[in-house]
Amino acid sequence: MQKTGLFISFEGIDGAGKSTHIDALAALFKQQGRTLVQTREPGGTPLAESLRELVLHQPMDALTEALLVFAARRDHLHTVIEPALARGDVVLCDRFTDATFAYQGAGRGFNADILEQLERWVQGRPEPGAPEAAVAMHPTALRQPDLTVLFEVPPAVAAERLAKAREADRFEALPIAFFERVAKGYADRAAAEPGRFVRVDGNQTKNQVWQQLTKTMFNRGWLAIMVAGSPR
Ligand code: TYD
Repeated sequence: MQKTGLFISFEGIDGAGKSTHIDALAALFKQQGRTLVQTREPGGTPLAESLRELVLHQPMDALTEALLVFAARRDHLHTVIEPALARGDVVLCDRFTDATFAYQGAGRGFNADILEQLERWVQGRPEPGAPEAAVAMHPTALRQPDLTVLFEVPPAVAAERLAKAREADRFEALPIAFFERVAKGYADRAAAEPGRFVRVDGNQTKNQVWQQLTKTMFNRGWLAIMVAGSPR
């Protein structure tokens, strides 16, 4: 089994049903002896969690929103994700940069070239030995997840699930048309990078979703055994 660091992100529109599966996968990786970091974006560090509060609850324009999610990502990458991957841990991250392209880009209609510029600054791999403050202006490689699991559900189904679940934040309160654009944004990214993405039909039973997820991890050599059970 692979013992090098493993970076897996989980994406989908609000209400797509990521959370229970992330928890169950985390338990499974631990059971199989992997050291695990379970984290989320925006968030995952004290600073990034403070930025999350602002992004989810304060009114702001699209550029401010994009700058804040990337600022949170920079802190998270540097202080949590990169050190964990260097140790050989498994990092399960609830959302990463695909969310920015889907929500701020496709959803809000914010300029994708600017998002790509921010992505290069934040996720560009600096030259070995470069000072901590160095930003790779023209990086040859970007830090991206090894695998991105995209949970896809029709926006109307997701909205119905959310309405039952909790009080809406700034994004959850947006109309279905917004989530149609976000879903399309995710689908376009998945189509552009089929090797990195696995698309899961989140409108099946929990057990069917779980079977697909564990099979994906097993086929890549990341889990030693397939497990029949499904999450609670
Ligand atoms: P979410 O991940 O759904 O957490 P919870 O299950 O606790 O509600 O909420 C995060 C929200 O932030 C979600 O609506 C998507 C949004 N978001 C962005 O708009 N851009 C980003 O880059 C990220 C990471 C999240």
